[in-house]
Amino acid sequence: MTNYGSHSEDNREFIITDPRTPRPWFNYMWNGHYTGLISHTGGGFSFCDSPRDNRLTRMRYNSLPWDRPGRYVIVKDTDSGKYWSLSWAPTIDLKYDKYECRHGQGYTTIITEIFGIRGEISYFVPNQINAEVWRVSLTDITGSDRQLEIYSFVELVMGNALNDLINQPNDKHFTDIQFDSQHQALIASRRYWVLNRGVSVKQPNIDWKYQVYFHQTLPISGFDSSLDQFIGRWRSEANPIAIETGKLSNSEITCGDPIVALQSKISLKANQSTNFAVIMEMVHKGEPTQLIPTVSALPESQVTSLTQELAREFEQLKQKWDNYFSHLIVDTPDSKLNTMLNVWNPYQAAVTFDMARNAGYYHGGLLFGTGLRDQFQDILGMVIVEPQRVRSRLLSALKFQFADGSTLHNFFKLTNTGERTNHSDTPLWIPFGIVEYLNETADFSILAESVPFHDQGEDTVYQHLIKAINYVIASLSDRGMQKIRNGDWNDTLDYIGTEGKGETVWGTCFLGYILQKTFLLLEHLGDLENLDRFQKVYENLKQVLNQYCWDGEWYLRAFRDDGTSVGSSTHSQGQIFLNAQSWAVISGLAPKDRSDLALASCRKHLSTPYGMQIVYPSYTEVEDNTGLISRCVPGKKENGAVFNHASSWFVLASVLNGDVEFAWEVYQKMLPLNSAIDRDRYEVEPYVFAEYVTSPDHITQGQASHSWLTGTAVWMLRIGLDYLLGFRPTFTGMIIDPHIPAHWQGFKATRKFRGKTLHLEVKNPHSINSGVASILVNGEKINGNFLDLTKFTESELRISLELT
Ligand code: GLC
Repeated sequence: MTNYGSHSEDNREFIITDPRTPRPWFNYMWNGHYTGLISHTGGGFSFCDSPRDNRLTRMRYNSLPWDRPGRYVIVKDTDSGKYWSLSWAPTIDLKYDKYECRHGQGYTTIITEIFGIRGEISYFVPNQINAEVWRVSLTDITGSDRQLEIYSFVELVMGNALNDLINQPNDKHFTDIQFDSQHQALIASRRYWVLNRGVSVKQPNIDWKYQVYFHQTLPISGFDSSLDQFIGRWRSEANPIAIETGKLSNSEITCGDPIVALQSKISLKANQSTNFAVIMEMVHKGEPTQLIPTVSALPESQVTSLTQELAREFEQLKQKWDNYFSHLIVDTPDSKLNTMLNVWNPYQAAVTFDMARNAGYYHGGLLFGTGLRDQFQDILGMVIVEPQRVRSRLLSALKFQFADGSTLHNFFKLTNTGERTNHSDTPLWIPFGIVEYLNETADFSILAESVPFHDQGEDTVYQHLIKAINYVIASLSDRGMQKIRNGDWNDTLDYIGTEGKGETVWGTCFLGYILQKTFLLLEHLGDLENLDRFQKVYENLKQVLNQYCWDGEWYLRAFRDDGTSVGSSTHSQGQIFLNAQSWAVISGLAPKDRSDLALASCRKHLSTPYGMQIVYPSYTEVEDNTGLISRCVPGKKENGAVFNHASSWFVLASVLNGDVEFAWEVYQKMLPLNSAIDRDRYEVEPYVFAEYVTSPDHITQGQASHSWLTGTAVWMLRIGLDYLLGFRPTFTGMIIDPHIPAHWQGFKATRKFRGKTLHLEVKNPHSINSGVASILVNGEKINGNFLDLTKFTESELRISLELT
């Protein structure tokens, strides 16, 4: 029995000590452009800007064994002929004396001991340079001199990853790899770029704009760029012929499967260490490299200065994350909550901000691009730290909205394309994201920025926002509900309203929530006409929701084109849906008695040991007029799993409704360190949220999947921060309103906000959940719980309060 690993003392690393994890456990290294997924075995793939259109290295989809190939450094002892990988894979059948993988922020370090060599390999991507660096340290621990050969290699794609999968026999006629003695590097490129809008026989007539340099800071004794020559016939990366014989063929390909492989020979004195690095850098064709020097004779001094430069880069990476985490520091009685809120939850939020649902082990980066609805949610973490980046991200995402207010559902940055899927909720995430940005920054200047529409014309950000809402309001059903069309937030309720008549109850609530979210803004801007109009729609939604959508103990989920309902106790499956209940509360559309009953019904029917399941009973029979939800196996994904994104909204609804104890119970169950207690069952990384955990409706209950890339990350972060700890930013300041479990005696938390640092100390002497009558700010008493920032010139604010 093993739990495979645990967090480091300072929580900044997750240390895996047994490599035979139930799945590969991943990390990310990225700088906003150059990105690598990196597993605990050195696996994963790299890309720049787009995982579909500009893939650099290969991942073999559906590979057995899992997680191949990778970024491998293989060491060979020339006396014994034995060779092994510094990252465990691919030589996984060897018996390692020690294995340890440390996943940190933006880097992964793997330490091994085998055959008397202690190896340490650290992978990272520099902050500003489009490169990845593998820093290596080797130490003899046998007490005798050693003769070693070093082989570093990685398989390349260079361009369109989808094409690499479906058209490789043709694709390989466009590759060029040569050894460049000036840089002592292999330089790889491709003569065409399949920058298509989708799968097509037609190829654009364009160049792949880049070159990849692959260099090792040791004297090079051989190289290969032909995968076939390096690996050999009927072999694999675990036993390449070139390593076995010690002879690389110095292949330079103009056609074939590309690999970059370098060999160096070193001697290591007894008990001594040696350090070197492998660098892969991507540059525009014809432009100079930034990290890889020209080394005509590779003088010792140049290697030393490069080594120092790499150490500096690594240090800067650490500083970047120190700064990131300094924006939120919590000290609560729950150590798992602290681990998540201090490090892993904001870290995951940073990953989702840049990866969307796009580049993960469970999101192969070939299909989705960036979801518009996801993008406008995924800003919620980054906005606290780097509002400028969020600002420009919002501006570029708005370009995927049409002049009529509707939007593409997802988009690909590099090709400026996407799909128009007719999901009903997507446009409404635009106002959501903009208002959240304003809550954090009060930067109203963004509203005046002009942004082009995807089809024609351009308008201010403010008008983009208004148009999104107008578009939805203009297409409400006759009785005033939102139509579901090809689905709403739940992608798998996709055949309920394809004729354009069906209605979504969740969407109706979501519209209410969005309208309410704009009220303060419209008031603030003095746009009373829209305010009045939106308020009337809101009031009507309230009426309609409560007149038509109440099932007796909870709200229905939807109505089909023919008027029949989805999500009712009268049906045999799919009786109660979590989101319809949570959002009836979150939107403020449900009266208190119904909120109480609806949430109580969720507690009764949807509670599991891992969080709240999204629907019950899961569909066991296909309903063509409901959608793919009913084709998915029961208990998984949208068909009845604990879909964490939705489960987090239930937590929010419960807090808003005053059910703080239960909200906390669900929140803490969902923390991966709790839901992954049985790691063999849970399978995926226990340090980040997964999209879903299988519910008791399936025999594999407790098994999680789709880790890392889920909206859960930002919502759990913000629900924890804004509602449990109680920092709620507004245009004019900060509402301080904690909601904590009664047994907490208090907590401390520090949050940066608009250039100030807020140090909050909460005491709970009466063992209650919430209630703030007054706060003390730097010793001064303020009635109520609103912190008007304009009243304070100090940059450090010490806020203390007692729950009453
Ligand atoms: C996935 C999608 C998200 C969708 C959710 C529910 O997480 O990325 O956009 O809302 O599934 O279907």
